This record gives sequence, C-alpha cells and structure tokens, in this order.
Amino acid sequence: MAAAHGGQVLLSGATETLVRSELPDGATLIDLGEHQLRDLAGTMRIFQLAHPDLPRVFPALRLVDAAAGNLPLPVSSFIGRERELEQIAAMLGEARLVTLTGPGGVGKTRLAVAVGERLRDRFAGVVFVPLAAVTDPGLVLAGVARAVGVGLGGAGSPLQALAEWFGGDRWLLILDNLEQVVGAAGDLGELLARCPEVTILATSRTVLGLAAEREYPVPPLPLPDSAPAGPATLPLAGPRGAARLYLDGGQCGGGGGDLPAAGGPAAGDRAGRGPDPAAGARRAA
Ligand SMILES: Nc1ncnc2c1ncn2[C@@H]1O[C@H](COP(=O)(O)OP(=O)(O)OP(=O)(O)O)[C@@H](O)[C@H]1O
Ligand SMILES: [Mg+2]
Repeated sequence: MAAAHGGQVLLSGATETLVRSELPDGATLIDLGEHQLRDLAGTMRIFQLAHPDLPRVFPALRLVDAAAGNLPLPVSSFIGRERELEQIAAMLGEARLVTLTGPGGVGKTRLAVAVGERLRDRFAGVVFVPLAAVTDPGLVLAGVARAVGVGLGGAGSPLQALAEWFGGDRWLLILDNLEQVVGAAGDLGELLARCPEVTILATSRTVLGLAAEREYPVPPLPLPDSAPAGPATLPLAGPRGAARLYLDGGQCGGGGGDLPAAGGPAAGDRAGRGPDPAAGARRAA
C-alpha cells in the first residue's frame, strides 16, 4: 500500500476481517480509521500490524498516490521546449535545487510541470506546490505539507513532519511562484539537508540565493515561422505580452500562430473548425 512508510505493514479492512483470527503470537492490529486513498473512489478502513519486533509509531499515512502525484492537468497542448526539457532534466540529475527564472508569462510554470511529467519515473512522487497565494515565507513549508497531505496537528515543526514523511524516498517538489517568498530560502535549505533524497524544482522571477541552487533562465518561446517580420524571439513580455496572446489563442482551439485583430475575420473562421493544437506546435517549432 503506497500510504505506508518503510517497515510499516498496513492492511485493508477486508483483509483484517480475514486474518484477525489467525494472527501470529504477539501480533495485534491497530485501527487507523477510515482514509480516502487517491486511487480509490470511496474511503477505506486501514489497520496497522503491530508486533513487539516491529516499530509501532510512524508518521501520518501517505495519502498522496506516489505514482499519480498532483501535477495540474494542462488546459492546452505543450509547445516545443524539447531542448529546455533535456537541459533541466540533466540539471536535476546533478543539483537538488534548480530554479527556473524569467519574467511573468515566459512559461516557467508550464515548463516545470512538463519536467515533472517527464521525470515521474525518476522519483517516488512528484508534488506540485502552488505558492502564488502565499506571501509569508514562514508558511512555505506548511504549503508543502498541505500539498503532500502531511497533517501538521502534532507537536513537531512542519520541517520535522515533512522530514519524517519523506523519509529516505526520492521526491521531486515543484515549488511554483516562489518570488514573493524568497525569504523561505533558509527553511528550504534545511528541508534539503534533512531529506537527502528530496529535489526541488522552483519557479520564480528571481533566484532564492542558496549556495546549492542552480539557476535556469527560461528563454522566451521562438516566434512561429509565419509570424510577421520582427525580432527573432518574443520579447520578455509580461502576462499580457505577445507570447501569452499567441499561446492563449492556441488554447482556444485556434490555429495558434494566427493573431487576428480582436473580432477580426480569422476568429470567425476558426469557429467550428475544432481544436488543432498540433497546428500551433508545428508553427512554433
Ligand atoms: N510551452 C508551452 N506550450 C503551451 N503553452 C505554454 C507554454 N509555455 C507557456 N504556455 C502558456 O503561456 C502562459 C504563461 O505561461 P506560464 O504560466 O508558465 O508563465 P510563467 O512564467 O509561470 O508566468 P508567471 O511568472 O506569471 O507565473 C500560460 O497560459 C501557459 O499555459
Ligand atoms: Mg508561473
């Protein structure tokens, strides 16, 4: 059961009914209550096998399905970025903290999620931690705990709870929008020190400033071939920049590369044609 920690033996309620009368001498079953497991529709009663030879106290159950993780589902097809994906994957093989930097709208979050999807098999789990709404650096670890499903009700600190929960397993944490809480750098450094198999991929408009950190400045997406003459790459534009307009057009099922004037004929043209996300990808390639 993916919810268990190393050395912990868990049984479902159904199994408990079958084995209770045949437990070996000294063995008992501790009722851990009803839990919602991510890969099951309903809840399940879970029991822990207890025996004098087994450790008895474990951190909270891991209720995030390690294989499935919690990466946000993309709302549009992912365009290009093959080179960037390879470079970031290689950096994450060497460094335990990689920060994707760049101005708003350049594609940091989208790229980080794509990296997480690509590297899923390298880790026990990939967890996306949205931090855009967090402004107090002291709450970043609590945000990580919330994302992985670690209860913080106990006496220990969030750092302690997370360290116990991650144990010696390999996890990739995607910390998204760290720029307004870079003051959490110290806490994140401690998390990395306490959890030797945890790796962090951060997105931020600025670096965190940790010694262990490697920066990857995210380049703007190249302009599609069919675009009007202009600079070779999109300007490092803000959220309303050309890149975002172009991409958001693609998201709506249009041809992606066409940027019709608002209300212009191309918009009507596209209606009813259905989505062709590949067209955007072809043009952007
Ligand atoms: N490679 C890509 N393929 C398809 N869409 C993309 C790609 N990169 C970015 N986008 C789209 O462009 C928009 C901006 O990207 P994203 O949110 O990743 O930027 P960001 O750098 O994280 O911005 P911010 O600093 O504001 O968080 C989003 O709508 C996103 O889906
Ligand atoms: Mg972002």
